[in-house]
Amino acid sequence: MTTTAIQRTTSDATGPQLKSDELRLFQELMYRKAGIRIADAKINLVQGRLRRRLDALGLTSYRAYHDYATAPGHEAEFQMCLESLTTNETFFFRHKEHWDFLLGTIVPAWRKAAARGATFRAWSAACSSGEEPYSLAIALDAALTGSGCAFRIDATDINTQVIGRARAGIYGAYALQKITPAALARYFTAQADGQRHQVCDALRARIDFRAHNLLERATGPAYDLILLRNVLIYFDGDSKGAVLTNLAGRLAAGGHLILGGAETLSEKAHGFAYVQPTIFRKR
Ligand SMILES: C[S@@+](CC[C@H](N)C(=O)[O-])C[C@H]1O[C@@H](n2cnc3c(N)ncnc32)[C@H](O)[C@@H]1O
Repeated sequence: MTTTAIQRTTSDATGPQLKSDELRLFQELMYRKAGIRIADAKINLVQGRLRRRLDALGLTSYRAYHDYATAPGHEAEFQMCLESLTTNETFFFRHKEHWDFLLGTIVPAWRKAAARGATFRAWSAACSSGEEPYSLAIALDAALTGSGCAFRIDATDINTQVIGRARAGIYGAYALQKITPAALARYFTAQADGQRHQVCDALRARIDFRAHNLLERATGPAYDLILLRNVLIYFDGDSKGAVLTNLAGRLAAGGHLILGGAETLSEKAHGFAYVQPTIFRKR
């Protein structure tokens, strides 16, 4: 083997390395555009996730990729870059306490106060691939069927790829790990591969999926419930404050905000009353 061949083999095996000044470019980009802070310790993760895009474009450095993705006319690549760097982990009925609280407290209190025929409105505000809003739909369907009341769910995420997967509503064993056999039989259709299940049309029709950046203001109806779970952990104080100000304006008086298991907020700053860990109510 010649020296050149050895060098090429070595470089193919390891590929371009993400240098710390290049990491800084992606940290600044993600913070500016999505409010997300990427820690220095995540350098290998960032390199691994962006590597596919460098390879696809035939680029040999991460700086070249940054410049390409942020150049005018390359908006689609920019979106792919952003989507490569978001973390979309989720599954059905994640965090049992939240579903118990929804069915044991939020829905009964809402029904007491609501007029007959009223609609419960909820927003899954970082819905990833849809497991969270579909869990909400299953829980609300079970709680409100036969009550004369209806529900509607808006589900949004910054990542358009996961929104596409959410709309399709097809899931495997990992996502469905907490779904009971009864719920699986009632709300899903088995796929031909025998491994995956699709959410039934009736449930899919209750959810409106769309792309939305939480740093941007959204207008629309006032919600009785907003789920903002497992996304604030990626934001620093300033972006967290901006997101919470946007969301507080979208909750009906007395509506609930539920955060992820490791997340907190300074309730006074945003007009929320503390209910129990991770659960807040708009005053
Ligand atoms: C870990 S997932 C949480 C999914 C679900 N809420 C749960 O708890 O299982 C975090 C989601 O937040 C989304 N996200 C990150 N930054 C966002 C932003 N600025 N606006 C909207 N969504 C964002 C990511 O794309 C990702 O799908």
